[in-house]
Amino acid sequence: MARLYFDGNSELIRDKIIAMIGFGNQGSAQALNLRDGGFKVIVGNIEDEYAERARKLDFTVYSISNAVKQGEIIVMAIPDEVQPEVWSRDILPNLAPEKIVIFLSGYNIYYGFIKPPKDNDVIMVAPRMIGEGVRENFVNGRGFPVLIGVANNHSGKAWDYALSYSKAIGAIGKPGGVAVESSFEEETITDLFSEHTWAGAFLFMLAEGYRILIENGVSPEAAMLELWASGELIAITKAIVEKGLFAQLRGHSTTSQFGHLTWGPKYVTDEVKKLMREAIRQIKDGTFAKEWLLERLAGYPVFNRLWDEITKSDVWRDEDRLYRLLGRR
Ligand code: NAI
Repeated sequence: MARLYFDGNSELIRDKIIAMIGFGNQGSAQALNLRDGGFKVIVGNIEDEYAERARKLDFTVYSISNAVKQGEIIVMAIPDEVQPEVWSRDILPNLAPEKIVIFLSGYNIYYGFIKPPKDNDVIMVAPRMIGEGVRENFVNGRGFPVLIGVANNHSGKAWDYALSYSKAIGAIGKPGGVAVESSFEEETITDLFSEHTWAGAFLFMLAEGYRILIENGVSPEAAMLELWASGELIAITKAIVEKGLFAQLRGHSTTSQFGHLTWGPKYVTDEVKKLMREAIRQIKDGTFAKEWLLERLAGYPVFNRLWDEITKSDVWRDEDRLYRLLGRR
């Protein structure tokens, strides 16, 4: 069993200047939480719309190199695939010894794309929560789960800093909050595994389910509302979190329970299990990381083509029409 922490001592970093490198999903949410908690936050960002947003919210925005020079804790809140380049150009040359570096995912350290010096603490605090949730939970007085890990423990206090930062961003010390002792490796494997297996399959399965219902004479509106647009999924997910993966089924009708239990397992075929094992193999041996790196270096050709296919699809078009009628767009 992993060790779980429900609280930490945020006073350990109370007087340190926290340089939030990036002001996107996680960066903006964590910076706002930290500032509301009375911590000293500056933002390091390239000159783009994210920098403008940070300024509008009254943060002082510096270039990334300048923020690294001033910060005592450097938080890597920019996309994983751009981090190696930004690290070698703007961060490493300005990273004095003893500064604490915090990663929000294990990706670049696990794959060795970033090799930090030995005289810095290198910590991971990876929220199991999208940025919006990080902020929303904080505003509502709730915590959220984080995986924590240590790559360099130069000061001997790296684990304490990980808990301290977890508390400072509002993850622990509140109901719903927990920090799980983990590692850069475990975070990377589990995070990518979800994305490459059920999470992606779920979206494509719903899209295909929509087409099959339409083929069978169901109206697009009824099909889409049944499959995802009604919000029922939110209630089910909430029940999964609160009651348990299968225990929540008791809240469905008995007809629904019987249907779930008889039909659900039929989709988990040997072929699907093989595919899931293949996904984890390609995560562990670096095949996926290499593919994603090459994709970025080539200017995202496959990524853009796939997005193009999706945005031109029947499901995208029909959804747009329904969401406009429902006033969601
Ligand atoms: P994001 O995509 O929202 O990042 C946007 C920020 O990156 C902006 O400030 C932008 O100016 C900056 N940026 C983009 N390209 C840049 C470049 N070429 N050079 C310099 N800055 C650039 O990032 P997100 O999603 O917040 O992810 C940040 C980290 O948090 C990643 O390590 C990610 O794995 C981790 N994470 C993200 C979660 C999420 O909710 N999105 C959940 C848990 C962890």
